[in-house]
Amino acid sequence: MPADVFTAPLKKPAHVGDDWLEPKQTDYTAEDDAIWNDLFARQMGVLPGRAASAFMEGLEKLDLGQGGVPEFGRLSEDLGKLTGWSVVPVPMLIPDHVFFWHLANRRFPAGNFIRTRETFDYIQEPDVFHDVFGHVPMLTDPVYADYMQEYGKAGWKAMRYNRLKALGALYWYTVEFGLMLERGEVRAYGAGILSGPTEAVFAVEGKSPNRIMLNVDRVMRTDYVISDLQPTYFVIESFEDLYRQTVERDFDRLYRSLPPAFTYANSAVIDVDNVIHRGTQEYLLRGGRGSGAAPV
Ligand SMILES: [Fe+2]
Repeated sequence: MPADVFTAPLKKPAHVGDDWLEPKQTDYTAEDDAIWNDLFARQMGVLPGRAASAFMEGLEKLDLGQGGVPEFGRLSEDLGKLTGWSVVPVPMLIPDHVFFWHLANRRFPAGNFIRTRETFDYIQEPDVFHDVFGHVPMLTDPVYADYMQEYGKAGWKAMRYNRLKALGALYWYTVEFGLMLERGEVRAYGAGILSGPTEAVFAVEGKSPNRIMLNVDRVMRTDYVISDLQPTYFVIESFEDLYRQTVERDFDRLYRSLPPAFTYANSAVIDVDNVIHRGTQEYLLRGGRGSGAAPV
């Protein structure tokens, strides 16, 4: 990677190379494997009928429920045969430019560590369950797999235009919290939704959040919450539609037209929106996470 590229001020652990990859995957304990199995079983109780079929099929193709934390070598081999992607272990959140570089080369950096029983329900830093269970099955879909690679390439361009926040919003509202239509019904494909039990129900069926058809210009101007359920979810027609709206777009022009800060609040509904469900925002108005408000 070029030496002049912006480097985020993260402190790299001594054993990790410049590519931020761990030399090898963690040796998980029996308890780590048990945590994976319990998380897996919990999601399987929630996701059928709520997760996109591409995700459910991906889980099956990669056989992620065979017990314990998957071995990245085996996973990469299976995934490689399907779409040419691999999964590589990283110690923590990694700097943006390194993250983009891996994606652009069809490598998905996945957190090595797994949460504990104490943080079973919620952790802020993405662990191996969020990264591998939530993200990796989606990479078996050929169009989605291409979108992720193109997203990586788009990252460096966003850095040059100083519009990383806008591109981050796109990632947030698609890769992490995206919804899609399947035979007229809303289904989740975002990893942030798929890796947690509460948001899977809230995003797909909740009365509180808005569900709005995705418009890239609008989404890249929209603020987002990182530590609570989303007030708004954006819905795509298909992965082909997402690809068309982003990759087949002139991002240079788009970046030049974007203001440096977000224009729309994360709960806003604006005139141009194609609204599927206008949320009550009851959960947010009652105080959200920490207030004890029910995620309705
Ligand atoms: Fe994620």
